[in-house]
Amino acid sequence: MAKKLFIKTYGCQMNVYDSARMADVLAGEGYEATDSAADADLVLLNTCHIREKAAEKVYSELGRLRELRAEVQAAGRELTIGVGGCVAQAEGEEMVRRAPVVDFVFGPQTYHRLPHMLARAGRGEKTVETDLATEPKFEALGTVAAAGKVTAFLSVQEGCDKFCTFCVVPYTRGAEYSRPVAEVLAEARALVASGAREITLLGQNVNGYHGASPDGAGSWTLGRLIRDLAGIDGLARIRFTTSHPRDMDDDLIAAHRDVPQLMPYLHLPVQSGSDRILAAMNRRYTTRDFLSIVERLRAARPDIALTSDFIVGFPGETDDDFEATLALVRDVRFAAAFSFKYSPRPGTPAAAADGQIPEEVKAARLARLQDVINEQMRTFNESCVGRTLDVLFDKPGRRAGQAGGRSPYLQPVHVDCDDAGALIGKVVPVRITGTGQNSLSGTLAGARAEVPA
Ligand code: SAH
Ligand code: SF4
Ligand code: F3S
Repeated sequence: MAKKLFIKTYGCQMNVYDSARMADVLAGEGYEATDSAADADLVLLNTCHIREKAAEKVYSELGRLRELRAEVQAAGRELTIGVGGCVAQAEGEEMVRRAPVVDFVFGPQTYHRLPHMLARAGRGEKTVETDLATEPKFEALGTVAAAGKVTAFLSVQEGCDKFCTFCVVPYTRGAEYSRPVAEVLAEARALVASGAREITLLGQNVNGYHGASPDGAGSWTLGRLIRDLAGIDGLARIRFTTSHPRDMDDDLIAAHRDVPQLMPYLHLPVQSGSDRILAAMNRRYTTRDFLSIVERLRAARPDIALTSDFIVGFPGETDDDFEATLALVRDVRFAAAFSFKYSPRPGTPAAAADGQIPEEVKAARLARLQDVINEQMRTFNESCVGRTLDVLFDKPGRRAGQAGGRSPYLQPVHVDCDDAGALIGKVVPVRITGTGQNSLSGTLAGARAEVPA
């Protein structure tokens, strides 16, 4: 009988991708997925360290798993527990000391070695693997198992050398690494062969991609890679995330003009609208640089939807700095954005800086920023009413007789239809008739013929 695997994933899309690859690796060891920890023989936590008390949350989850293991053992079964991802990388040995329930701890670059860690756990030996070299992992992984999903993630770049002063990623994911073009193309073809119609290329700095070219003589930019991916038959949509303003080159901007499969959507975190704060964050661009990128993007693709990330209450942020952030938001007009209170991360320069901002000031600034962002999001969504948008359907809707998909601008869209199954995996024009909290609703526009890619 197959053994059962339960993975709980926290954090960014790269962790979502990594969890899928862990499941691939473990399928080779006879594990199949379950969606309940109580049924599992193996539980993996794939953790995130980006904000707040990430490590504490993992330890309290491990407390619950200790109780679960006791119940499982009382019923005569065994339960193996592993912790991976960015908290695992940051905690290392400390984790097995503080939480003896953990059988193995593995950083983001080591999950190809899961079979080895499991074998050791079977002998009662604990393993802590926190090597940060990226290449051996991708070399060992081979091609993806057929995922059969309409939308798929594909990591093309990992790690970060930018060292923004607030951020843990360079410490938890290691140095920047781009996968070779041939490897990426092979994985993309395998995903499309297994039913993927949309691929989102992932990287902590995805637009800094510079993977070895297929002839080995040089390297390709992300723009060049996207042009080649667009040649894959059956791949209707290409997206990528997350980009850094510093790496936004003309070639990638031109791809937004030239490549119809590349969706008119870009997530481009700016963090702050104050040049003083941007410098203290070590972002190495100014608000003027950012606004110039926005202008060039809109010239290349007038309907492009822009989204971003913001941090409020970075050490030393004054009321004027914060007003500058609000001014930038009003100037750009985003389709959506994430905003966070600055969270001091152990070991990062900003955590030790003077001028830490009181919690209530952070909370008040966050609320004001989110009001402006929510208003812009509503305006953007309402501007879609009356338009006909191509929707890639990927799941049944929340109610029976509904199908759900995404617009080119990544908005969730629901339509009423008799046969949701027939729509899934297809790009179909939808006339948008209304907006909900975070989604659009519409009706199938005309013939159900699929839009050619
Ligand atoms: N590589 C991307 C961001 C990765 S982290 C970039 O450079 O933009 C995702 C988001 O989390 C960041 O954009 C930032 O807004 C937020 N973030 C990262 N560290 C944070 C911290 N210490 N406190 C609050 N937010 C943080
Ligand atoms: Fe973190 Fe900055 Fe790297 Fe983004 S660019 S992952 S924010 S260090
Ligand atoms: Fe979190 Fe690590 Fe991603 S810290 S955001 S899981 S890179």
